[in-house]
Amino acid sequence: MIINNYIVFEGIDGAGTTTQIKLLAERFPKENVFTTAEPTGSETGKFLRRMLKGEFSVDERTASYLFAADRCEHIYGKCGIIEQTQNGKTVLSDRYFFSSLAYQSVTCGKELPELLNSPFPLPELLFYFKIDPEKSLKRVLSRGGNIEIYEKLDFQKKTAEAYDEVIKLYDGTEKGRGMTVITVDAEKSIEEIAEFIWNCVKNLPIHKA
Ligand code: ADP
Ligand code: TMP
Ligand code: MG
Repeated sequence: MIINNYIVFEGIDGAGTTTQIKLLAERFPKENVFTTAEPTGSETGKFLRRMLKGEFSVDERTASYLFAADRCEHIYGKCGIIEQTQNGKTVLSDRYFFSSLAYQSVTCGKELPELLNSPFPLPELLFYFKIDPEKSLKRVLSRGGNIEIYEKLDFQKKTAEAYDEVIKLYDGTEKGRGMTVITVDAEKSIEEIAEFIWNCVKNLPIHKA
């Protein structure tokens, strides 16, 4: 199943998804857009954010279940993605299940994340931010603040490879049918990327709910 008017941004840490989602949202009239992210602001999401900061650890399989549970509420819960699109909004999400397929495949293998995430609907449009992990990690480090558990070069390199594989599975394939996948050269300037994304989005046939 496809969720119309649902646009997802994906990429390794520091690829620039948060920067670009804000810029894209500004192009829409406020009442027509809903910007969101995973992990979400729910109790499950907050728990995951603390785990990402390294405050405590859980078994990697447990983390996979928690990301999927947070996502389930994000899609189907009250004021969630489906409800927002039904209210006529274009939903922009900073990460979705492709993050689990990439990151959690590195931490606990492909099988569990695939199992947990295969029931979820596809977005209409997926932007995949592709960047050399050395460059993105430099951005993360220069952003300041605390470093999260996955923000290490070795891990980011493996995740970048896993993402490439995941995107291949969905781009123009039966599995990804109905979803448009657009790879973004995330090494370009913020302004160039914003323009590229807007050119893709403004030409989309926006389906009315
Ligand atoms: P992400 O959400 O993908 O982890 P951010 O959008 O938070 O990444 O960006 C990480 C850092 O890199 C921020 O300091 C941001 O200002 C900077 N940044 C984002 N996009 C670019 C870009 N295209 N070129 C240079 N720096 C960028
Ligand atoms: P971000 O808010 O900077 O995007 O950070 C979220 C972190 O959580 C990032 O390192 C990716 C990770 N993550 C997963 O490992 N699996 C997931 O399913 C999601 C949504 C995020
Ligand atoms: Mg971010």
